[in-house]
Amino acid sequence: MAVIEAIDLTKTFGGPRSRPVLDRINLSIEAGEVFGYLGPNGAGKTTTIRILLGLLTPTEGVVRVFGGVPGERDELRARLGVLLENSGLDDRMTAFQSLDYHAHLYGCRDRRRKIEHLLEFVGLANERNAKIGTFSTGMKRKLGLARSIVHDPDILFLDEPSAGLDPEAQLMVRELLQELARTRNITVFINSHHLDEVQRLCTRIAILHRGRIRASDSVENLRRGAGQDRIEVRLADAPQAARAAGLLRERGRLARISVDGDRVVATGNGMRAPEIVTALVHAGLEIEEVQRPARSLEEVYFEIVRDEGVTA
Ligand SMILES: Nc1ncnc2c1ncn2[C@@H]1O[C@H](COP(=O)(O)OP(=O)(O)OP(=O)(O)O)[C@@H](O)[C@H]1O
Ligand SMILES: [Mg+2]
Repeated sequence: MAVIEAIDLTKTFGGPRSRPVLDRINLSIEAGEVFGYLGPNGAGKTTTIRILLGLLTPTEGVVRVFGGVPGERDELRARLGVLLENSGLDDRMTAFQSLDYHAHLYGCRDRRRKIEHLLEFVGLANERNAKIGTFSTGMKRKLGLARSIVHDPDILFLDEPSAGLDPEAQLMVRELLQELARTRNITVFINSHHLDEVQRLCTRIAILHRGRIRASDSVENLRRGAGQDRIEVRLADAPQAARAAGLLRERGRLARISVDGDRVVATGNGMRAPEIVTALVHAGLEIEEVQRPARSLEEVYFEIVRDEGVTA
């Protein structure tokens, strides 16, 4: 059953003639999924989360979280954990006080033990009594993350959880989320610009661009993905690779030919490896290796967001 749903969700800021920020977005996220929501700056990722939390209302369309209208029922709100871009922590509180306040608000039991454990996990145990006002960006981010899960939510909304975090802390966030997904069947909705993180963490992603979802699937399926095909041929040496590239360019049809040392990479539609290999062998070239590498998530992403001349 879907725990997060959007049906033709449309959001327009300003007058009716303004271009919609979100234009008929459809989402259906099942319990236990780790869903990555990608898109360039200004694509509407934060707006989507704010609507799913009930902080903004849709202009048109419907959203449901646990089958209900977001923000309407307190008992549903208690099942959500949230880390927004601006974490909204009170600078005058200590790390411990901040978590304790939040846990108290949600009626958590066994608060002290849980908070100590979380502080330890996010690496803030030594700062437990330090005022948040003295924290670095990354420390606030870690505390925000701890706060978002202190009440054991069933859905976690994270708006760029690793922004401002060093590589070690990014790893910590990833491990934490993997553990939560594995042990608690928690559903995670992550806005991120961090393609590597998304690739390692998410069971499914959607790429948002110019108000619409342009692709939505598992990372693996997107990488194997529609249309574009790619063949990489390693030749005996660089001059042969250059000759091979010339030859393949003459054949036309192939969308893009590039040379990298002794390798030539051909990317295009309907490319048949046997034909390419035969043509190169007939030209007297010595082939050392032929590969069909999958595209990286980065390549998939740029193909989508570069369309219409817009870059991330
Ligand atoms: N309250 C608001 N009033 C008017 N326009 C808004 C408001 N909130 C967001 N917008 C506009 O909506 C668009 C999407 O913003 P949003 O913050 O959702 O993007 P984002 O995908 O989260 O971007 P980023 O990657 O930079 O965080 C932007 O053009 C932004 O200016
Ligand atoms: Mg944002």
